[in-house]
Amino acid sequence: MTISRKRLAVLASGSGSNLQAIHEHLATRGAAAAAELSLVVSDRETAGALERARGWGVSAVHLPAERLAELGVLLAEHEIEIIALAGFLRLVPPEVTRAFRGRILNVHPALLPAFGGAGMYGQRVHKAVLKSGARISGATVHFVTEHYDDGAIVAQWPVPVRTDDTAETLAARVLAVEHRVYPRCVSALADGSVQLLSDGSVQRATPLDFDQLSPDSGRHPVGG
Ligand code: GRF
Repeated sequence: MTISRKRLAVLASGSGSNLQAIHEHLATRGAAAAAELSLVVSDRETAGALERARGWGVSAVHLPAERLAELGVLLAEHEIEIIALAGFLRLVPPEVTRAFRGRILNVHPALLPAFGGAGMYGQRVHKAVLKSGARISGATVHFVTEHYDDGAIVAQWPVPVRTDDTAETLAARVLAVEHRVYPRCVSALADGSVQLLSDGSVQRATPLDFDQLSPDSGRHPVGG
């Protein structure tokens, strides 16, 4: 039986550690992988994400902010079927989010709808969490809409905030969780076990939640 793999594009502005996690997850699944990493796009020429993609022989395209309107054409040229934003700091053009409704995911380093929205990225998120006194943060994977950090939630994994945390230590612990949860969500989107329904709700046929995973697949991903 031939498995039809979904052609995946990852959009990233930074180092691309989530891109790396997705790549490794798909590579581990080998022939059974539901998605094929087909394109990496970055608005930053020096993004580590582009370098990683080139190293794997994956098409890597620098699309500066002033040419972002060309994204739809680029995705079409590469016959992209699903998209994962991984630290992409630009707003995806609305015609792309509309065309890819239910086929585009983002990962955010906090528990949305708290600590999200325009300007909430990188260390700013973790500083705001610490300042608020919140005792729990985490990672959220959600469908993407025309607005920053909006859209139905696919999965969330909690991370405790420690009394001695700095933005850096909290960010590192959340990032480790992102690396576990995000590839699972991308796979689930690709194989159809996660779907955005027409009423805006999410249907999950796969356990993606923190408390539903068996111990050996990361039931306690928050670290010691
Ligand atoms: C992650 O924390 C992600 O949640 C946020 O941007 C960061 C990207 O990191 N959207 P990396 O480039 O994947 O290492």
